[in-house]
Amino acid sequence: QTVSLLKAPFDLGAGTRGSCLGPEAILHAGLIERLEALGHTVLSEPSLPSPRKGVVFSNLPLLNLPQTVSFNRYLASAVHKAVAKGHFPLLLGGDHSLAIGSLAGLALNGRQPGVLWIDAHADLNTEATSPTGNIHGMSLAASLGFGHPHLTGLRPPSPKLDPARVVLVASRDLDPGEREFIRRTGIRCFTMQDIDRWGMGTVMEEAIATAGSGPDGIHLSFDVDSVDPSAAPGTGTVVPGGLTVREARMAMEMLQESGLVSSADFVEVNPLLDLRNQTAELAVDLIAALLGERLL
Ligand code: ARG
Ligand code: MN
Ligand code: MN
Ligand code: MN
Repeated sequence: QTVSLLKAPFDLGAGTRGSCLGPEAILHAGLIERLEALGHTVLSEPSLPSPRKGVVFSNLPLLNLPQTVSFNRYLASAVHKAVAKGHFPLLLGGDHSLAIGSLAGLALNGRQPGVLWIDAHADLNTEATSPTGNIHGMSLAASLGFGHPHLTGLRPPSPKLDPARVVLVASRDLDPGEREFIRRTGIRCFTMQDIDRWGMGTVMEEAIATAGSGPDGIHLSFDVDSVDPSAAPGTGTVVPGGLTVREARMAMEMLQESGLVSSADFVEVNPLLDLRNQTAELAVDLIAALLGERLL
C-alpha cells in the first residue's frame, strides 16, 4: 500500500506549545524505515507550512482561530489529493485540531467514514462550552457540525460525520458540556471504566462494529494522551489512568485485522515534554501495528 505521510507541524490549537515538533520526532524514531520494512511505499510529502503565532487579538473563547482555519484548509487539500490518488493518508501531528482538516479532506472526496476517536478526551467542546478556548478540544464537535462556522464550514459539506458511526475509546476526562453532547447525540463512548470492566478486546470489537457499519470504512484519530502517562509522557494534556501499551497495540492489531481503516491521524506527540523520545517511539510502534506489523 502507498502511504502518504502528511507532516502537520501545528500546535496553535493547543494550550501548550511543542507538538509542532511531533512529526520530526516521529520520523527520528524510525517511522519510514518501519513502514518500508512492511512493504509499504512511503511518500514523504513536504511538511505543511507552519503558521506563526502572530498577533492574537483576544478572540477568546477561540484561540488562534484564523491560523487554525488556514492550516486546516491546507491540510484538507493535502488529504483530498492523497485519497484521490488512492493512497493511505497518514497524518502526523501536531495538535488534535488537525482532525478538522483531515476529516474535511476525506469529505471532499465524498467519503463519510466512521470515526474511532482514541483519546483521553472527547474533543466535543464548542466555543460555548470550552473551559479553555483551545480548538484541539473542539475538533470532533466541529466535524459533527457543531461550533464556530469557520471551523464547521472550513470546507463543504457540514456535518462531515454521522454521529451513529462515531465512537470514543479510552475517554476519562470529559467536560460537562461534552457529557451533555454525548447524551444528546447518542455517540458511543467507551470510557476507561468500560475497558477495565469488559476488557480492551470486547470494547474494540464493538467499537469497530459500530464505526465500521457504513460504506466508507473507518478513520482512526489517535491522540497519544489516550495511553497512560507512564508510557506516553510526551504530550500536553496528560490524564492518569490510561491505556497500557499492550491495550493500545491490541487496538491497532484489531483495526489492522478488520481491514476497514484507510486513513489515520496520530496527534499530540510533544517532544518538548517527552523523555528520550519514548512517546514518539510508541507512536511508531502503534502505526506499524496498524499498518500490518505482526509479532509472529
Ligand atoms: N477538554 C479540554 C479542553 O477543551 C482538553 C482538551 C484536550 N484535547 C486534546 N486534543 N488533547 O480544552
Ligand atoms: Mn510551535
Ligand atoms: Mn484529542
Ligand atoms: Mn486528548
